[in-house]
Amino acid sequence: MSDELVNAASQARQRAQARYSNFMVGAVVESIDGRVFTGCNIENSSYGLTVCAERVALFKAVSDGYREFKRMCVVADTRVPTPPCGACRQVIWELCGDIPIILANLAGDTQTVRASDLLPHPFDRSFL
Ligand code: THU
Repeated sequence: MSDELVNAASQARQRAQARYSNFMVGAVVESIDGRVFTGCNIENSSYGLTVCAERVALFKAVSDGYREFKRMCVVADTRVPTPPCGACRQVIWELCGDIPIILANLAGDTQTVRASDLLPHPFDRSFL
């Protein structure tokens, strides 16, 4: 089950455009009905315009009309599986709520965390 997501995220990682950091990331978000959307990080010479793999996957899914998600997966080539950055944590919370997120590396190590563990005490629409 989670192997399929890790494989899809690993393949997406190969498509990363990371010529400035050389840090390639792949991500996957799975919709409630089992559709899988992939993303990779896409860097820019104006560094701040870089978009992380997680947000690419999520924005692809939302722009294709998907609104409910059951889990995500993130793959990078690190010793300890890499968690999403702060900006992605906020976007994951906004679009997915408290889903499990599988973190994986190329060695096959995995760790599953929840969005609420990554972003405790979040700002969201309940405050607006
Ligand atoms: N990056 C991601 O794509 N996802 C993460 O969770 C962490 C960081 C990207 C952004 C940038 O292209 C590179 O990794 C180094 O920060």
